[in-house]
Formats: sequence, structure tokens, C-alpha cells
Amino acid sequence: MARLGELAMERVREVPAYRPGKAGTGSAAGKLASNEAPLGPAPGVRAALAGLGSVQRYPEQAELLERLAAHVDVRPDQLVLTNGSDELCSLIAGLFLGPGRIAVLGEPCYQIDASVSVLSGARLRRVPLREGGHDLPAMAEAAQGASVVWLPSPHNPTGVAADPRELAEFLAQVPADCAVVLDEAYRGFADPACRPGIAALLAEYPNLIVQRTLSKDWALAGLRIGYAIAAEPVADALRRVRPPFSVNSAALLAAEAALADPAWWSMSVARTRHERTVLESELDTLGVPFFPSQANFVTAELEYDTVAPALRAAGLSVRPGADLGLPGWVRISIGWAPQMALLRAVLRDALGGRTGSTEAVG
Ligand SMILES: Cc1ncc(COP(=O)(O)O)c(C=O)c1O
Repeated sequence: MARLGELAMERVREVPAYRPGKAGTGSAAGKLASNEAPLGPAPGVRAALAGLGSVQRYPEQAELLERLAAHVDVRPDQLVLTNGSDELCSLIAGLFLGPGRIAVLGEPCYQIDASVSVLSGARLRRVPLREGGHDLPAMAEAAQGASVVWLPSPHNPTGVAADPRELAEFLAQVPADCAVVLDEAYRGFADPACRPGIAALLAEYPNLIVQRTLSKDWALAGLRIGYAIAAEPVADALRRVRPPFSVNSAALLAAEAALADPAWWSMSVARTRHERTVLESELDTLGVPFFPSQANFVTAELEYDTVAPALRAAGLSVRPGADLGLPGWVRISIGWAPQMALLRAVLRDALGGRTGSTEAVG
């Protein structure tokens, strides 16, 4: 037994254990640590789940695939549904990485990308971020001889999005046999000008795999559903390595109901974007540097130990940057307006001594 444990640990020694964001000490609304959607999904989702029947049957994806294909503007055979988008990271690593292969990542990166790469036996080539964003020219260079480039945009943990024009230039420089994984977990919160046209990019660069989730702007994190958009042969290969029923019936039903209510999505995203702007302007006033965010969080240069006790006392929790490769910073998820007002008040109190106005980093 002990021997197997040692063997297992040998494979994952470099993989940090995942530490989920902590709940606030008050209501769940005080948890500003996991980039969740404060309003929850469209009301139709609850109604659909209440009517969930036939759980003795294996889940059936066809209807959602049709709806999603129309929503994304691709063919259904270009889509692969997964159990949260994190499952897709494992599928991609299984398909394209392994001993002797190279994975390129920003530094700091989204932790799951590093974990699945290390587990595959691949070597990591890390490219430091520039002002919170991916250094795309340096990443294009690093991609020579590599098998996968992991590219979340907007990035986690910084919220900075790649410029679509620079992204296209980057794709033109990456070898055709290297997969570029554009993780758009936070796309819905980005300015339209920061959202690349996926169908056109895919048509030109069949080595592009777009990773999406319904956990964030569609508010279904607890049900675990994400998807890949890829060229048909890549999508076919991903489907072959995916456990066929990894997306359950409740998640499929909920996703359909969520997509049927785009007005709810717009309202929820607009509120998040508004609160994000208000928080950034407060940080500006307090003289706290932050990365200009296109996501549903803002990462600010604040010592966790300085602000966490006061936040905790107010029933709020944020994510320590040290957990995310950014010591000396905290990542603040955008929550409900009352929690955000409370957060700003606590920060004003805690940092009252600081003056001046600081431009956003970058
Ligand atoms: C960049 C990024 N990709 C993927 C995910 C995972 O999403 P899912 O809940 O679909 O597994 C997250 C979640 O925080 C994320 O930040």
C-alpha cells in the first residue's frame, strides 16, 4: 500500500494540491473567492431541473448540441461537451501531451493546465506574463517544437484579455502540429472588442481548440458542464477519449434552459461588468494597483494578510494570490452589489492611510 502511495506521489510531486476558494463567514454571497455568478442561473433552469425525468436513462446530448451550435455559430460536430471545462484540459493533455512533449504556459498560469501537463509527463515551458497578459510574441517562440500552448483569455489569475488582432498574429506563427488551447472561461464578461471571432479563426487555424464553460456567465458551476469548439477531426478525437456520459442529464437540461434565456444572461453579465468598473475605480482612488480585468474578478496588489481579517469579520472572503502564483496580490470575484459595497467600505477602512491615484497596471 505504502509503495503505491509513493509511486503515485512521484508522478504528482510537482502538482500543487488544488485549494478551493473559502466561503465567507456570513452568507454564501460573501464568497468572493471562486469567480462564481452571484445572481445564479435563469429562473427557467430551476423549473427545468424540477421536471427532470427518466434518470434511469443515460444522458442524451443531441438537443443541446443543436442549440449550442446555433449559439456559437459552428456545426454540432465541431462541439465536444465535457464535465466542466476542466475535464477538457485532461482530454487535451491525454491526446497531445506525454513524455518527451512540451507544454507552453503563461507564468502564472491557470493551475489545472499545469497539473494535467505535468501528469502527462510533458515538460513545461513557462513564459512570464507581461503586465498581466500573455506575452504572445514570446509564446509563439516558445511554441516552436511544443505540442500544446495553454492560453486562457481573459486570463486567470489576472483577468487580462489578449487583443484579437495580436491573437491572430500569434496563431499564424504557431506550428500547425501544436495545439493552441484558447480557454474562454470568462469570454462573456469581456468587452465585445476583446472577443475574437472564433468561427473565422477556426477555419484558418485548425490547430486551435477553444475551451468554454457554462460555470461562469451562465452560472452552472455546480452542475459541471463545459465544451470544446474545434475542427471536426480534433473534435472527433476528443470525443473518442472522453468518457461517453461524463456530462449528466441534469447538466444537459440546465444548459438548454439557460441558453433559452439570453436576456437573463445579458442582465447578469451587465451587472457584473458594472460592479467590476466600480471596484476598479475604487481601487484607483485608494492607490491600489490592479490588472485591468475583462473577467468577473479583479486582481489587486494587496497583501492578503493585511485585508483578509477585516474582510472575514465582514463575512467576505477573497482568494489569496499566493494560491494562484501571485503572492502579494488578492483576487476578488465580483459578487452581488451589497457585498461589493461592503467590500469597498472594508478596503477603504483598512487602507484609509493610502492616498493618491494609481493607473491600472498595463
Ligand atoms: C481559466 C479557467 N478555465 C477553466 C475553468 C474551469 O471551469 P469549469 O468549472 O468549467 O471546470 C476556470 C475556473 O475557474 C478558469 O478560471
